Amino acid sequence: MLRFETAGESHGECLVATLTGLPAGIPISIDSINHELWRRQQGFGRGGRMKIETDRAEVVSGVRHSHTIGSPIALIVRNSDWKNWTENLPVEGGDPALRKPVSRPRPGHADLAGAIKYDFPDARYILERASARETTVRVAIGALAKQFLQQFGIGVLSHVIAVGSERLGRNASWDELVELSKKTEVLLGCVDPEAEQRFKAVVDQAFRTGDTVGGVFEVVAHGAPPGLGSHIAWDTRLDGRLAQAIVSMQAVKGVEVGFASDGAAAFGSQVQDTIHYNKEDHSFFRGANRAGGLEGGMTNGQDIVVRGLLKPISTLRRPLESVDLETREPSAAAYERSDVAVVPAAGVIGEAMVAIVIAQAMLEKFGGDSLGETKRNFDNYLEQVKNF
Ligand SMILES: Cc1cc2nc3c(=O)[nH]c(=O)nc-3n(C[C@H](O)[C@H](O)[C@H](O)COP(=O)(O)O)c2cc1C
Repeated sequence: MLRFETAGESHGECLVATLTGLPAGIPISIDSINHELWRRQQGFGRGGRMKIETDRAEVVSGVRHSHTIGSPIALIVRNSDWKNWTENLPVEGGDPALRKPVSRPRPGHADLAGAIKYDFPDARYILERASARETTVRVAIGALAKQFLQQFGIGVLSHVIAVGSERLGRNASWDELVELSKKTEVLLGCVDPEAEQRFKAVVDQAFRTGDTVGGVFEVVAHGAPPGLGSHIAWDTRLDGRLAQAIVSMQAVKGVEVGFASDGAAAFGSQVQDTIHYNKEDHSFFRGANRAGGLEGGMTNGQDIVVRGLLKPISTLRRPLESVDLETREPSAAAYERSDVAVVPAAGVIGEAMVAIVIAQAMLEKFGGDSLGETKRNFDNYLEQVKNF
């Protein structure tokens, strides 16, 4: 079983992650991990924190001579901001006067529920862990999963299809996503320049008015074979597992597999993907891909398409109503340097989560302690599919 864990706080020394279960022999490039980390930091609408950080992964175990060795992989991403917090958040003791309490919980954050649950007088320790800074190492782990999937011709990319109420309004091809992923400057992660300008105008408006804005990102996995996941039990259904992975992301409040919400408003004849057969190359093909590559909880060989619906960022420069935890009097919510819009970055995190879930499903189906063994099992299965 492929499994990962993360640790670390927003303003602590570093973020840490471990990944257990990758077979030995997978070529690993640290540059590729760092490139994914760079992509997570991009996008118009990010706050000052992203100017402080230049995220870099340090792999400290499980990879030797640029290949996995089958043992747990551990990696670290250091927080450059830590140097500004060493006295405020020391591991031991420290001067109580230097603490930075968050006593006016921010609506839409873990602040109040977390302070009550863990019985803290203020929300500092809660926001430190609830922060999406944690997703830095999810992206690093996702980059490892991507390098594994690459060995089987599977790619995972994303794009932004809505910001606020503005929408892209058309489908994007895989080639367009590949081109988008090669850009060295990221505005709002949209394949269409005209739509991207409309997205930018919405973010501009949020900046001007001290507000924030959300949106929708779409993650596409290309090249997956049919038969990953299974219809046989609730927790083997890959659509459910992808949904959990996406909604586990900070600020993601909804998920769509394929064209779910459009489909719910249409008739069946307009939604299901018709089945056809090519007698020349003996293969099945579909009239469309509205199911997002998943039927009965299994991949069907088409692109896997999953969308994440991101709420607007909870911390507003124009703070919302809250209550002071000390005085219990009405008070404006705390403000701490914050992003205004993060939809392209969320897309990159979504890619990582999808890559991890697909890598898990691949290893469940094909197993193997070495890449060679996994590949042999995979190739055998492809032969079975071809001869079906
Ligand atoms: C990439 C990314 C960056 C984020 N940056 C911020 C931020 O700067 N300020 C903020 O208030 N929330 C930010 N969020 C959202 C919060 O982390 C999230 O809303 C909060 O932890 C509460 O969790 P929930 O919205 O899932 O309930 C960000 C989310 C993502 C995905």
